[in-house]
Amino acid sequence: MSLRTATPDDLADIMALERASFPTDAWSEAMMAEELASPHGTYLVDVGLHGLVGYGGVRAVRGAADADIQTIAIAAAARGRGRGRALLTALLAAARERGARDMFLEVRADNPVAEALYASVGFTEIGRRPRYYQPDDVDAVVMRLDLAAWAAASAPASTAFPAPTSEDPTNLGASGEDPSSFATFSELRGPGDAADAAIAAPAVQERAR
Ligand SMILES: CC(C)(COP(=O)(O)OP(=O)(O)OC[C@H]1O[C@@H](n2cnc3c(N)ncnc32)[C@H](O)[C@@H]1OP(=O)(O)O)[C@@H](O)C(=O)NCCC(=O)NCCS
Repeated sequence: MSLRTATPDDLADIMALERASFPTDAWSEAMMAEELASPHGTYLVDVGLHGLVGYGGVRAVRGAADADIQTIAIAAAARGRGRGRALLTALLAAARERGARDMFLEVRADNPVAEALYASVGFTEIGRRPRYYQPDDVDAVVMRLDLAAWAAASAPASTAFPAPTSEDPTNLGASGEDPSSFATFSELRGPGDAADAAIAAPAVQERAR
């Protein structure tokens, strides 16, 4: 297994995996190209002996406290061997390196494998978006992870992408500003009011997973 940053040249291989992994709601090639080109995130690919076997992306705008796992997929033949976990771990480390403190994601309510993967690294459910995934009419489970707590609990993994230093302008917590002054999505939502409270579907066309 070899993880590296995705490039525009990976688009065709990523799209082949995308269409195979998400048969009913694959992103368009144009949307994926935009994601790969965005300066506001990191996409990684997992390269096996015979080509690409996985990809995943995180949106983490520098200076923002919140970040999102956009998507993650491993080729069917390569699943169940720890690659998804390794890719997710690298994406979390990348988000932390970009200064994020809280990680969010949506996962289909009918995808227990992905939900188990996310729960196993510490994501917890904070809400649901009813009928978020169309045309399948499936709810989204919204999950959150405290990145600092995750890094503390998995120190060796987090060293792959070092945490921001005090010289790093994206390290808001160390720059003298009170971190508590930054309202995060989770703070706005409040703890514990999760599954019963529906979160409105976003106006944007893109469905993060
Ligand atoms: C979700 C996905 C990325 C997991 O990748 P993977 O390489 O198979 O996962 P790993 O082998 O690293 O397993 C990590 C964890 O996932 C969960 N998991 C993996 N396979 C599972 C299975 N068949 N049943 C239940 N849980 C499973 C377990 O929690 C596992 O941890 P464990 O091995 O300690 O029990 C992969 O199944 C996939 O690409 N699915 C299709 C695309 C998709 O649904 N993406 C997620 C969108 S939100």
